Amino acid sequence: MTPEPLQIGPLRLSTNLLLAPIAGYCDLAFRTVCREFGGLGLACTDLLSPQGLLRGTATSLDLAKTSDFDKPVGMQLYGSDPEIMAQGARWAVEHGATVVDINMGCPVDKVTKKDGGSKLLTDLSRAVAVAERVARELEKIPLSADEWARRLGDASLHTGQWAVGNGQWKEGHGEWAMGNGERRVGNGAVPLTCKMRLCWHTADYEAGSACSPHLARMLADVGVSAVTVHGRTTEDKFAGSVRLEGIARVVESVRGAIPVIGNGDVREPEDAARMMRETGCAGVMIGRGALSTPWIFRSAWGLLSSGEAPAPPTEPEIIAMIRRFFTLMREQRDDRYAMFQISRRISWFAKRLGAEPDGTRHGVKPFKEAIRVATHPDQVHEALDAYLRGDLRTYFQDAERVQGVEAE
Ligand SMILES: Cc1cc2nc3c(=O)[nH]c(=O)nc-3n(C[C@H](O)[C@H](O)[C@H](O)COP(=O)(O)O)c2cc1C
Repeated sequence: MTPEPLQIGPLRLSTNLLLAPIAGYCDLAFRTVCREFGGLGLACTDLLSPQGLLRGTATSLDLAKTSDFDKPVGMQLYGSDPEIMAQGARWAVEHGATVVDINMGCPVDKVTKKDGGSKLLTDLSRAVAVAERVARELEKIPLSADEWARRLGDASLHTGQWAVGNGQWKEGHGEWAMGNGERRVGNGAVPLTCKMRLCWHTADYEAGSACSPHLARMLADVGVSAVTVHGRTTEDKFAGSVRLEGIARVVESVRGAIPVIGNGDVREPEDAARMMRETGCAGVMIGRGALSTPWIFRSAWGLLSSGEAPAPPTEPEIIAMIRRFFTLMREQRDDRYAMFQISRRISWFAKRLGAEPDGTRHGVKPFKEAIRVATHPDQVHEALDAYLRGDLRTYFQDAERVQGVEAE
């Protein structure tokens, strides 16, 4: 049975599946490729530094790049200063965000040393203060109906009531005409979400005192429209398996005030169905699973909505996807960056290639090598063509390339 539509504030997503932020990977080119396969309800930028956005540093602006097709899109901010985060959120709204997200889960030192990411899980009053300040800022900058229309993609605006936590409901989202002919949407603020882990210390989780259930409730009370929970503690980093029970506790705690999105270890469509079934979460966010399987949203949504996952793409379709990603990267950045990205991602992209009926994989290693040793975009295309023709052996008979592989 199709799950209840996932609604984040006034925004009703077309599916209950989300692409996670994965720093260094979930850029505009990758989001575009995932969207083209279908099944994706909402995608998010990687974590963005509000200071970087406000100063206009090239790296931050590249990371925040979006397009008309890349909608609806969440922009994720990290930091712990409520005022700077509020200004970052304003920047995000002014540059195309459909949703603003606050990172409360990143375990990386560079982020936690500045009290951001999952360090906020150790100081709940600060976490709530940041979210509250950002929520108030967003309310000050409602979008016009036309602006909403530009950033909805295949999502829709809900015209009834929606929960804002604390047992309250926000009324309607009707349109009205302004004196100057502009159309306005009532309560048209961009919704705020927060993405967290279960808590910092594993011992706290094991003792039943993880902070995430309590924090999620407090965030709902200050106007956060949804929370995403990666079912691991900060100390877990990425070890072990996702703790579905921990996500279930957050779902139980918020009692439907806001949707809870589950996250962690979804690699197959059935993993998404299981996460929803066992935790009661309203949506599922997928990160690493999408890096190897950008069509996982289409597959998982097929399973969730009709009970059957559609056939995966064929090998030529997967090669076309890799080519498309590479071309988009060249267009959106430059050849050098595109070459760097394709060589570091080819292991992910090739994970589903070359599968034989007996479970072995064939011809993938030389293909990955050919991509990695390529020094010119034409060589990337030649390697893709050679893989399709099944003659990478001939390709590697070229002396220069063999030297290149040996030098690796
Ligand atoms: C390399 C890497 C980078 C990540 N970057 C971010 C990030 O920028 N923001 C964030 O909220 N989570 C980030 N995460 C966490 C993911 O969004 C996700 O919560 C985690 O990988 C678990 O989901 P998965 O098993 O589906 O990948 C990152 C994870 C990895 C592996």
